[in-house]
Amino acid sequence: MKGFTDCVFRHVFAEHFSGFDLAIAPFIASKRDCSVRRRHVRDVWPENNTRLPVVPQILSKVATDFSAMANYLYDMGYSTVNWNLGCPSPMVASKKRGSGLLPYTDRIDEFLEDSLLKMKGSLSIKIRLGWRTRAEIIKLLPVLNQYPLEEIIIHPRTGMQAYEGGVDLETFEKCLPGLTHPVVYNGDIRTLEDFHCLSRRFREIDRWMIGRGFLANPFLPYVIKAGQDDLDDKIQTLQRFHGALFSAYAGTLKGPSHLLKKMKGLWRYLSLAFEPFAKTMKKIKKSTRPEQYLDQVNRFFETEAKTSSKSLPCGHERCG
Ligand SMILES: Cc1cc2nc3c(=O)[nH]c(=O)nc-3n(C[C@H](O)[C@H](O)[C@H](O)COP(=O)(O)O)c2cc1C
Repeated sequence: MKGFTDCVFRHVFAEHFSGFDLAIAPFIASKRDCSVRRRHVRDVWPENNTRLPVVPQILSKVATDFSAMANYLYDMGYSTVNWNLGCPSPMVASKKRGSGLLPYTDRIDEFLEDSLLKMKGSLSIKIRLGWRTRAEIIKLLPVLNQYPLEEIIIHPRTGMQAYEGGVDLETFEKCLPGLTHPVVYNGDIRTLEDFHCLSRRFREIDRWMIGRGFLANPFLPYVIKAGQDDLDDKIQTLQRFHGALFSAYAGTLKGPSHLLKKMKGLWRYLSLAFEPFAKTMKKIKKSTRPEQYLDQVNRFFETEAKTSSKSLPCGHERCG
């Protein structure tokens, strides 16, 4: 997730939590004229990714630029790269990149034909149901079936929806018989119950991707794998994770304002696990110095540890 799950985060996360088999790294935009430099792909340098297997992701609409970056990444040792056809950001989509390319079936066809010919490794893709309408994916499926893809990750919303409204499980279900590639389900898995609902409905799916749900509850991947929530001392684990992440970012980000911005950003999701949280969040947001921020956060964790040491009081709704 761009802005959140960079290599520092992934490393510290994997030191404190389990359950994920791999991470799709936040997208890297392809460079014009096939010019890739090592610093462009710093986030996926193998030496920065020793704890959790990673699939690098590329955002691009130019096949030659895409295949050049993909080949650079294969040369670094990756066997698969992922093409981002899901990003809903208007800045991205208006340039016919990310989910903005989904209405243009012919362009996707040409892109895959041109890039796959030149690529040294395998390709997976991440898509939504369409940019404007869900009819777009139905048109796209026969095109995708023509190419050797490792897997297709589907987030069943349109790009225009961004993250609003519910996931469209009916359309996702309709897509499944029409696809010959392994499919990964992605969207709104926030609790073990959500996962159970979805895995009962889509029995043919055995690959799952979680985004915001694990940022709100970092224990979720483990709980899903274990099939139950048998963890103790969660608040203490969270506090240790938070402390380690703070130290890691303090060592890599330039200056206290970047550090504070990064750490405060995490609470956008993490705060969802705690209710009510508004008062504490205000204090955390208001802190202007790293020491003040840490003090507020540690006080919060210590109070929480006294009241809810086993379960994270997670206030999410369930899937229907
Ligand atoms: C802040 C943010 C950044 C994201 N960055 C990426 C990204 O770089 N690449 C990608 O494939 N998806 C990205 N996503 C989308 C998520 O991977 C995922 O598809 C989406 O959040 C739905 O899944 P979830 O309900 O489990 O979060 C991002 C989502 C958010 C909210």
